[in-house]
Amino acid sequence: MTNNYDKSNIATMEMIYGEGYLSAGGDREIAKLFSGVDVAGKSVLDVGCGLGGAAVTLARDLDAGHVHGIDIDQGVLSRAEELVSKNNIGDRVTLCHVPPGPFPFPDEHFDLVHLTAVACHFDELAPLFGDIYRVLKPGGMLVGRDWLKLGDNAEFRSWDELLRARGLNFYFVDERQFSRTLEGSGFTGISFVDRTREIAGLAMQSVQAVKSELRDSLVAVLGDAGYGDCLNWAEIRAQALTRGGIGQSQFSAIRQNGAPTR
Ligand SMILES: C[S@@+](CC[C@H](N)C(=O)[O-])C[C@H]1O[C@@H](n2cnc3c(N)ncnc32)[C@H](O)[C@@H]1O
Repeated sequence: MTNNYDKSNIATMEMIYGEGYLSAGGDREIAKLFSGVDVAGKSVLDVGCGLGGAAVTLARDLDAGHVHGIDIDQGVLSRAEELVSKNNIGDRVTLCHVPPGPFPFPDEHFDLVHLTAVACHFDELAPLFGDIYRVLKPGGMLVGRDWLKLGDNAEFRSWDELLRARGLNFYFVDERQFSRTLEGSGFTGISFVDRTREIAGLAMQSVQAVKSELRDSLVAVLGDAGYGDCLNWAEIRAQALTRGGIGQSQFSAIRQNGAPTR
């Protein structure tokens, strides 16, 4: 499985989503996801850390003891390294390029795992969730947010097809399948909060930004045709979110005290 974020994908997604992010909401979103979770002093694994925004804010703002960010894409990791160094937080954030597959960490190693907009890149969730369970300490928690399929309708299909046409591999499942796979991997205390309305609001704001204040910078990176594609992408994403094709939920799940079930 590959994931082809090219340089212009990265540059434009970061313009739209904010420094350090390839998903909506930025640092505020990470604070929201982890509100009520005791992060201070904890060891955190950020799976699919992308441009490093979450890893940095977990250490810098939420006072995590240490954050390990891993990603399969050296291009995004190089940008994440710049962000870590700009924030002068290299003593508490370690970034690591990994091949797809089991994580290079021993069993029961982390207190917390963060996973935002990454599970949707996996054609099979069970190996991913099983490995997250393995590296969490008993009582440790998985926290994240992801795209979830709401219906097999025209809005969903337009979004899904557009992503594939741009070389991005996404495998959207519904909440039931996501939840069952977590459960099958041994997790307990599984909870979801539907965030579609807020994320749809952010997606609509993005469309406006792409049309106005971001227009010139996007044209400079992408050219006129590329700008048109980018605007089309932003519009289809907003439509899919506002018209019941795709949603976003935040989730959390706990590793029970015991060995993995698989
Ligand atoms: C949509 S981006 C989200 C990045 C980041 N979590 C954020 O919210 O900004 C998905 C990230 O997952 C990474 N990724 C995809 N498959 C992966 C895998 N098997 N292991 C680790 N990272 C992976 C991609 O390279 C990409 O950086």
